[in-house]
Amino acid sequence: MDFKGQDILSTEQFSKEDILRICDVARTFEAISEKRQTSELLKGNVMASLFYEPSTRTRFSFETAMKRLGGQTITAVGQDYSSLAKGESLWDTAKMVEAYADVIVVRHPTEGSAAEMARGANVPVLNGGDGPGQHPTQALLDMYTLMKEKGKIDGLTIMMSGDLKYGRTVHSLCMLLRHFDVKIIFSSPEELKMPTNYLDDLRGRGVAFEEVLTLEEGLKKSDVVYATRVQGERFEDKEQYERLKLAFVLSRDLLEKNHSGITVMHPLPRVGEIAVDVDGLPGAAYFRQAANGVQVRMALLALVLGKV
Ligand code: CP
Repeated sequence: MDFKGQDILSTEQFSKEDILRICDVARTFEAISEKRQTSELLKGNVMASLFYEPSTRTRFSFETAMKRLGGQTITAVGQDYSSLAKGESLWDTAKMVEAYADVIVVRHPTEGSAAEMARGANVPVLNGGDGPGQHPTQALLDMYTLMKEKGKIDGLTIMMSGDLKYGRTVHSLCMLLRHFDVKIIFSSPEELKMPTNYLDDLRGRGVAFEEVLTLEEGLKKSDVVYATRVQGERFEDKEQYERLKLAFVLSRDLLEKNHSGITVMHPLPRVGEIAVDVDGLPGAAYFRQAANGVQVRMALLALVLGKV
């Protein structure tokens, strides 16, 4: 893919070569993200970060990435303080923001919203999470983290646990993992299973997967467990959410009994599905994973702005 000027909307748009290219570029920014070097690569460029849903990691890591590469940011947080609250459309909003910024990052609760903004804007639009849809930049930093933690992706068995129905990060990650020689184990309550369209896609591409109903069964067979939060904000039935929110909890005791050396990932935030006593295990990679977001987002910004 020629990245210059591209929108980043979905993991479906990437080939294996694209994923490896993004990770290679991200690696070159490691020293800058760790403040051992400075850069003015994106000097003179402005990034608009439009976060119409809550975020800590995605917004701050994009803004940090832009600033550490010498660029500047403008930010909208929440719909109440933008003209969306007056009824302005996403298309018009995008058309306006392109006049102020060279690249737009958007998070919005509606699936397809980033694509709608991309239709309106003549500058690259990067999807920072569109409701239950996709979170492509998270999936790219997850791939980067797998490579960094495990030294490879081919040959890994990766277990995804928790809310596989509403969790957009696992949907996006599957769409990247399908390019590699991996096995995926899905472990979730019956009501939160991986949607069949994703399973059909994996099956059609010959990706090995299995579904298990307990954490114990999957942990024993996996190199990595990728846990997810039960997405309370997507449930219509709040009683169902209360019943399921802590159905799949990774505790230190469970990990030590079933696979003590396993690598534990999570897109964060966690709200109880990984006990805090797991943090001290060498395989607890989730805070390192979140930190990797800066260099991966540096790579994406530099690529779509045509600077590498
Ligand atoms: N992982 C992730 O998207 O975190 P935030 O919601 O804090 O951005």
